[in-house]
Amino acid sequence: MAQAAGGLAARARAQGILFGAAINTARLADAAYARQMATEARILVPEWEAKWAALQPEEGRFDFAPLGTVLDFAARNAQQVRGHALVWHQAMPDWLAPALAEGPVRARALLAAHVDAVLARTAPVIRDWDVVNEAVANAGGPFVAPTPAIGDLRDTPWLRALGPGYIDLAFQLARERDRTLRLTYNDYGIEGDTPFAEEKRQRVLRTLRRMVGARVPVDALGIQAHLIMDEPFRPEPFAAFLRQVRALGLSVLLTELDVREAAVVPLDLAARDAAVAARVEAVVGTALAEGCRTVLTWGLSDKDSWLATDKDVARKDGGIHRGLPLDAEGRRKPMWQALARLFEAPPTAPPR
Ligand code: G3I
Repeated sequence: MAQAAGGLAARARAQGILFGAAINTARLADAAYARQMATEARILVPEWEAKWAALQPEEGRFDFAPLGTVLDFAARNAQQVRGHALVWHQAMPDWLAPALAEGPVRARALLAAHVDAVLARTAPVIRDWDVVNEAVANAGGPFVAPTPAIGDLRDTPWLRALGPGYIDLAFQLARERDRTLRLTYNDYGIEGDTPFAEEKRQRVLRTLRRMVGARVPVDALGIQAHLIMDEPFRPEPFAAFLRQVRALGLSVLLTELDVREAAVVPLDLAARDAAVAARVEAVVGTALAEGCRTVLTWGLSDKDSWLATDKDVARKDGGIHRGLPLDAEGRRKPMWQALARLFEAPPTAPPR
C-alpha cells in the first residue's frame, strides 16, 4: 500500500511540534532504514554515537567519526540533532570509572575536558543536550528494578567521585561553554500510575526543584517514555507532574518513546497494535496537552529497536515488541496513525 506523502515530522511541524527519532549509524547501510529516517523525522538523536564509549574510547583520544555520520546525514536531510548524553553511568569506556575514582580534582578535570571537546566539535549543529541522564535512583517495583541510592540519587561512579554536585557541575560546564544550548535532565520510569513511578516522579521533582533553586542552568526535563503496557497508566498523575515541572520554568520533552508490550499479548496483530496505539495516544496526548512540543521515538521500526535485542526487555515468546511507529517491513502501524492524529490536532489541557 502506498504510504501517504509526508511523514510524522511534517504533520507535527504544522502544529509547532518537533518530531524525530533515535538513529543508529550501524543501520544506515540499509536504504529502507535511511529513507524512513529521512521521511519521518525532523530531529535525530544518536542512539550510541554521542556517548562517552563512542566519543572518548581512551582518555584524551576523541573519535567523532560515528557522530559525524549522524551530523552529515542530518545535514543532507535538513534535520536537527539533539545530543545524548554528556553524563551517564552506562556506555562508559572501561578507563573512565577507575579514573573518576582517583578523586574529585581528576574527575572534574575529565568532565570539563569532555564537555569542552564535545561542545566545541558539535556546537554549531547540536543545540540541545541531555546533559545528565538517569541520575535519580529507582525506588523499584514490579516493572522497574530498584537501584542503589544515596538520598534520591542513583549510586554511580559520578556521584562517588564528585558528590551530588556532579549534576550541577555538568550543567554549569555546558552553560559556560555555550550559553545558547537547551540543557536537559533526562530520565525514565516517571509516566506510569504505580507507587514506584509516583516515588520516582517525586524524587525527580525534588532534584529539579533543588537545581532550579540553586540557579543551576537546567532548561528542560527529558521524559524517556519507554512505556510498559503491563504498567497501568492514568493521565491525571502524569499531567499533575508535568504541571509541577513546568511551574519550575522548565520545558518537557518526550525523548525515547517506545512501547514494551504486555508479557501476554493477543494472537491477533490488529489487537496488539490497537493496544499500543491507545497507550501512546493517552501518554503523548497528556504530554502535548501539558505543553510538550518535542517528541522523539527511540527508533522507527520494530526490527531496529533495542526492545528486539536487549535481553532484559526482549519478548520471551520469541516475537518482537510492536512498540514503534513502523513494523518490521517499514509499514505504518496504528501507533503511527495515533501520533499523526495527535500532531494534526494537539490536545489542549482542560481549564483549571
Ligand atoms: O560501540 C559499538 C561501536 O563501536 C560499533 O561500531 C557499533 C556497531 O553497531 O556498536 C556499538 O555497540 C553497541 C551500540 O549499542 C550500537 O548498537 C554498544 O555496545 C551497546 O552498548 C549500545 O547499546 C545502546 C545502549 O543504550 C547503551 O549505550 C543501545 O543501542 C541503546 O538503545 C540504549 O539506549 C538507552 C538510552 O541511551 C538511555 N535510555 C535507555 C535506552 C535503552 O537502554
